[in-house]
Amino acid sequence: MDRPRRSSVATINKVNPVNKVRLPPNAKSRRRAMKSEMPPFRFPIRRLAGVPHFEYHSPRSSEILEFHEGEYPMKVVAFNGSARKDGNTAILVRQVFAELEKEGIETELVQFAGQKVPGCIACRQCFKNQNQRCVVEGDIVNDCIAKMVAADGVILASPTYFADVTSEMKALIDRAGYVAKANAEMFRRKVGAAVVAVRRGGEIHAFDTMNHFFLISQMIIPGSCYWNMGFGLNKGEVEQDEEGLRTMQLLGQNMAWLLKKIQS
Ligand SMILES: Cc1cc2nc3c(=O)[nH]c(=O)nc-3n(C[C@H](O)[C@H](O)[C@H](O)COP(=O)(O)O)c2cc1C
Repeated sequence: MDRPRRSSVATINKVNPVNKVRLPPNAKSRRRAMKSEMPPFRFPIRRLAGVPHFEYHSPRSSEILEFHEGEYPMKVVAFNGSARKDGNTAILVRQVFAELEKEGIETELVQFAGQKVPGCIACRQCFKNQNQRCVVEGDIVNDCIAKMVAADGVILASPTYFADVTSEMKALIDRAGYVAKANAEMFRRKVGAAVVAVRRGGEIHAFDTMNHFFLISQMIIPGSCYWNMGFGLNKGEVEQDEEGLRTMQLLGQNMAWLLKKIQS
């Protein structure tokens, strides 16, 4: 049985609580807490100054999941730039997520399929406004930026389109990257990883495009046993690429390890 080794790990307190039900910040962590019946379940946490203490009372047992002053579970958000929802790129990302979730890290996948994601208009208003937002409104980019700010780790995932990322992914990179620069490098020291689906060639160029975003944003990149790619043309074909799936699993393990090291 695991034993808590660091003070930055929230543990289940077996004392039966009275009037101590303050829910964790989102539904997913609540659901995970409810499923957890095997104490001590440990969430890696992050600290946010000024955030109050909260505890979670599981309805399925007398256990309480207790977070301390200013602590939250860690989170990784992924953006899938594919025009195809739940295709090969999404399958690869979910392999990474499975490993992160095993370590108690929350995950969220944002898929761009069906969304219009226009590019940067080079107005440089973000440098004047400095409000962590792109001045272009009416699309999902500002929501994506906010999700990146709130997360500890970011995955950019794209299929290979003509040896590069999709235009939607490039639009996110340009706009979020510029807003981050305009706001004191707000992604600095978050963990970033790129994931690419490909039929045959050009994936390294797409991989590089996304890693350029992390590197110039002062983010920290974990590796895997190969570059983070999976092969397939039609939806689901990537599941036959065993090496690609294994690469994603190791990426997830390394990302979780790195996130915990950074937070410890
Ligand atoms: C417009 C377009 C361009 C593509 N360009 C390439 C390419 O340059 N190299 C390649 O190997 N596959 C290319 N593909 C194939 C996709 O990368 C491949 O089918 C991938 O698995 C799709 O991932 P998804 O299911 O997440 O959309 C292209 C597909 C489309 C639709």
